[in-house]
Amino acid sequence: MVREQFLVAATVVFVMLSLLRRSALFQRVVARFIEGTGPKVPGLLKTPGWQVLSSGHRSVGTTELRELQRALAGMARYERAMAKGNAVIVDRTIALPQEQREQLIQVGYFDKIASVNGAILENGSVVWRVLRSALEQLLEVNKEESCRETLIQLCESLGFAVDILPSGGLQLTGESHHRHEDYETLVCSPGARGGDVSPTRVGEALQHLCRDWAPEFQHRESQPLVEYIESQLSPLNLNSHDLVVVPGSGCGYIAYEVAKRHASTPVVSVEQSLLMHLFNEFVFHSGEDVTVRPFASYYSNQWDKNLQMRSVKVPLVRVHRPDNLQCVRGDFNEWVHSTPRQSGRIVVVSAYFLDTAQNVFEYVSSVESLAMACPNTVHWVNVGPLKYGTQPAVQFTAQELSRLLAARGWKETAPPSDDHGDLNGYLTNVESLYQGYYALYKFHKTLTAGSTKQ
Ligand SMILES: C[S@@+](CC[C@H](N)C(=O)[O-])C[C@H]1O[C@@H](n2cnc3c(N)ncnc32)[C@H](O)[C@@H]1O
Repeated sequence: MVREQFLVAATVVFVMLSLLRRSALFQRVVARFIEGTGPKVPGLLKTPGWQVLSSGHRSVGTTELRELQRALAGMARYERAMAKGNAVIVDRTIALPQEQREQLIQVGYFDKIASVNGAILENGSVVWRVLRSALEQLLEVNKEESCRETLIQLCESLGFAVDILPSGGLQLTGESHHRHEDYETLVCSPGARGGDVSPTRVGEALQHLCRDWAPEFQHRESQPLVEYIESQLSPLNLNSHDLVVVPGSGCGYIAYEVAKRHASTPVVSVEQSLLMHLFNEFVFHSGEDVTVRPFASYYSNQWDKNLQMRSVKVPLVRVHRPDNLQCVRGDFNEWVHSTPRQSGRIVVVSAYFLDTAQNVFEYVSSVESLAMACPNTVHWVNVGPLKYGTQPAVQFTAQELSRLLAARGWKETAPPSDDHGDLNGYLTNVESLYQGYYALYKFHKTLTAGSTKQ
């Protein structure tokens, strides 16, 4: 009898716990508890301004240590990895006949390769500054004693020495005596090696720094996007009750411009890539201009050495994060579920983003789910191509997408434009023999709460 009663009680407790586990309130309470204890949980660090979405064991304001290590280690290794790749270009000539090698010398081929090495050093110094800035922000935010050892190890493993201040806080003092290559023996746990962010990805983030923040790129690439977005936003007369969300914000310029132009409206950018996010944070923290040679390591389609080595000035000294801009690092599809209920409108601004989805339906559903958090209309302003990534589940034409959205209850704010002539570059090297441009699929659609058909 007692045993039966016990079994019934245990079953009731089990069922209640299962239900509780699924409740959003319970998940929030647990997330808050973890957040409070964040730095004490092995493998978690509070991350400065890098609000990370609750998912699994992560909590808001934290990043998993291992993920952070991989991104930072990728940056620490960037210069060496690039130089190694450049040495391969020389190696490939070794087997050539003597006569051909002499002709390579005559035309300045090896001088060019040496110049690329110089450019790699310059680009490497920018990456190093981004890395340093990220570590400084980390030390600033994680002041608890329980984090100290982890942080010291992390910094030293990446080539930075740390001092313990009388206050107990930590401060970067310069380069550590440890070499970068020792890092795996210091902090990376078994299995973590090999998962570093690749130098190619770091190079792309550097190029994005130019796309977003160098005037010549801005003028050609980002500004036309901002102008279209603005032409749609300004008639809305956004106010402080509205919310603008910029998913896939890359290095952050579009979100920054929108925030500046609508200073009383909260703007949130949501970027999944930690690397891109770190570069965006660097922009707001660096306080100095940098110079990047964005195409130096590209040997194909170059007119001449000087154009290959071309430098681009990225003036950051006067760039500050607008007060109404919040930069969230995370997956937009997760972010939508954490959106608090809004009293005004929600406006989603997507640029060069739609085609990054493995399944576009997921992005569409995520935007639509915002209608639940918004008693008013959800607006969706989109601009960008439809160049689908790896293994997409569906690859819609622009017309199919428009039909899909109409079928799901979305309304056009203006008749769709048939103008396909508006070409736009994306990290395009305009001084080269190959220049890629995209036509832009633009729309501004609205969905009113309760009218979604899916
Ligand atoms: C093609 S880039 C465009 C970046 C920027 N909008 C621009 O125009 O320069 C797409 C960006 O979306 C980000 N991204 C991809 N999937 C995402 C997701 N589910 N949530 C948030 N960001 C995502 C990528 O990391 C990348 O930075």
